[in-house]
Amino acid sequence: MKINSEILSKYDVPVPRYTSYPTVPYWDQSPSREDWFAALHQEISRNPNLTWSLYLHIPFCETLCTFCGCNTVITKDHKRELPYIRSLIKEKNLYLNKFPELFKRPLQQLHLGGGTPTFLQPQALVQLVKDFLQDVQVDPKYFEGSIEVDPRRTSREHLKVLKDLGFNRVSMGVQDFDPEVQRLVHRIQPLEQTQELTQISRDLGYTSVNYDLIYGLPKQTLDSFTYTAQKTVQLQPDRIALYSFAKVPWIKPQQRLFKDEDLPEGLEKRQLYERAYEILTDAGYLEIGMDHFALPSDSLAEAFKNKRLHRNFMGYTDQKTDILLGLGVSSISESPTCFHQNEKILPVYESCIHEGKIPTFRGHLLSQEDQIQRKLILQFMTEGEVTLGSAFELEDAKNFLKEMIEDQLITILGDKVKLTANGRPFLRNACVFLDKKMRQAKKNESVKIFSQAL
Ligand SMILES: C[S@@+](CC[C@H](N)C(=O)[O-])C[C@H]1O[C@@H](n2cnc3c(N)ncnc32)[C@H](O)[C@@H]1O
Ligand code: SF4
Repeated sequence: MKINSEILSKYDVPVPRYTSYPTVPYWDQSPSREDWFAALHQEISRNPNLTWSLYLHIPFCETLCTFCGCNTVITKDHKRELPYIRSLIKEKNLYLNKFPELFKRPLQQLHLGGGTPTFLQPQALVQLVKDFLQDVQVDPKYFEGSIEVDPRRTSREHLKVLKDLGFNRVSMGVQDFDPEVQRLVHRIQPLEQTQELTQISRDLGYTSVNYDLIYGLPKQTLDSFTYTAQKTVQLQPDRIALYSFAKVPWIKPQQRLFKDEDLPEGLEKRQLYERAYEILTDAGYLEIGMDHFALPSDSLAEAFKNKRLHRNFMGYTDQKTDILLGLGVSSISESPTCFHQNEKILPVYESCIHEGKIPTFRGHLLSQEDQIQRKLILQFMTEGEVTLGSAFELEDAKNFLKEMIEDQLITILGDKVKLTANGRPFLRNACVFLDKKMRQAKKNESVKIFSQAL
C-alpha cells in the first residue's frame, strides 16, 4: 500500500478499538446486580444450545512495563496468591449456586489473563484450575484452555501442569526484540528466553502459540522493527497480535516517562506496521482483521476464511460463545443483552466477595437498537464489510463517509459498505459511522477517552 502522510494525519484521531459495542465509555444503562442476573437467567432459559466461556483475571505483575495499559497490581509479594485464588473460587461458587444450569452446559473456553497469570506458582495454578474444572462440563474434543504468559516469569513447570489439565494455547508477551526498546519500556526480555519458552510449549504439545508485539514504542525504527519482525518469523508462532501502542497517559501516568521525540507517530508509526505486515505476509502469515496475523493452518485463519471470526474484550477470536463470564478484579462479562464489569480496585473487589456479593462495578443493558448496531460493528470489524439493511439510511452512510469514499478508503455498493485495500488502517474510523452512541455524544468528548486511530 502506498502511504500518504496527509491521509494518515487526517484520520489519526481518537477512536475506539471496538472490542465491545457500545464501547465502555458510552455505557449508560448500568445494570444492577439483579439486572445482570436477570440477563443471564433470560439467556440460559431461552437458549437450549447455549455456549459459554470463562475468563479469569490475575492482576499481579512483579514489575511494571511502562507502556502497559492493562489492569495490574504490581507486587513481588507472592503471599497474595492464595487469598486471591480463594476470592476467584468464591466468586465462581456464587455463580454456581445461582445458575447451576449454566455450569451443566459444556464450557467452550477457559482463559487465564492478566496482569500475569504465571505470577501464580505452578501449584497455585493447579489448585485454581482444578477447582474450576471440577464444577464445569468439558468436552475435551472442543475445549480450549488458554493462558497469557510473560516469558520472563514462566517456567516449564507452569506450562507442564496446565498442559496436564487440558490447556492447549499459550499467548506470550514479547512486544519487541530490540534491547534498547526493551530498556526504555522497562522490560528486559532476551530473545533466547522467548525462544526457549516457545520450544518448551511445542515440546509439551501446545497446539497454538501466540506472540503479542507492539508498534509505536519509544525508539522503534524501521530497522529495529524489521529485526523484531524477522526474529518473530524465525520463531514461527502460530498467531501474532501486532498492537498499536495505545497512548493513554491520562489513565496510565507511567506512559509520561516516554519522551515525545522518542515515540514514532503518524506516518512513521504506520510504516512500522506496514514493514511488519510485509515481512509476516511474505513468510506466509495471513492478516486477520485489524491487528492480528495467523499461519494458514491456525484456527484463527480458518475462522477468518469461513467468516466465523469473532471479537470480544480480548480481541479477535474463533471462539464465539453466547455468554462470557469474566471473574476476578475488573473482569468484564457479556451476554447477548448485557455487559457487566467487576470492581476495578482489588480491596473493593475482595471485600464484596468476602460479603458474598457479586462485585458489580458497572455495565450496560443493551437496547434492541444497541444489539443491531453491535452485530453490524462486529461484522465490519471481522469481515471488513457490512450490509446495512434497514438499520441505517444509505444517504446517511454516504454523507457520513463522504471523505473516506473520496479518499478511496471505502466503497458503497448497494447497501454494502466495504473497506478498500488502502482503507485497511482506517477500519476503526469507518466503524464510527455505525456507532450511534459516539455520534450522538458531543464531538469533542471523545478526545480524552480513546487512543489514536493509528
Ligand atoms: C496482559 S498482557 C500479556 C501477558 C503478560 N502480562 C506479558 O506482558 O507478557 C497483554 C498484552 O497487552 C498488550 N498491551 C499492554 N499495554 C498496551 C498498550 N498500551 N498498547 C498496546 N498494547 C498493549 C501487550 O502486548 C501485552 O502483551
Ligand atoms: S505488559 Fe504484562 S507484564 Fe508488563 S505490566 Fe502489563 S500486564 Fe504486567
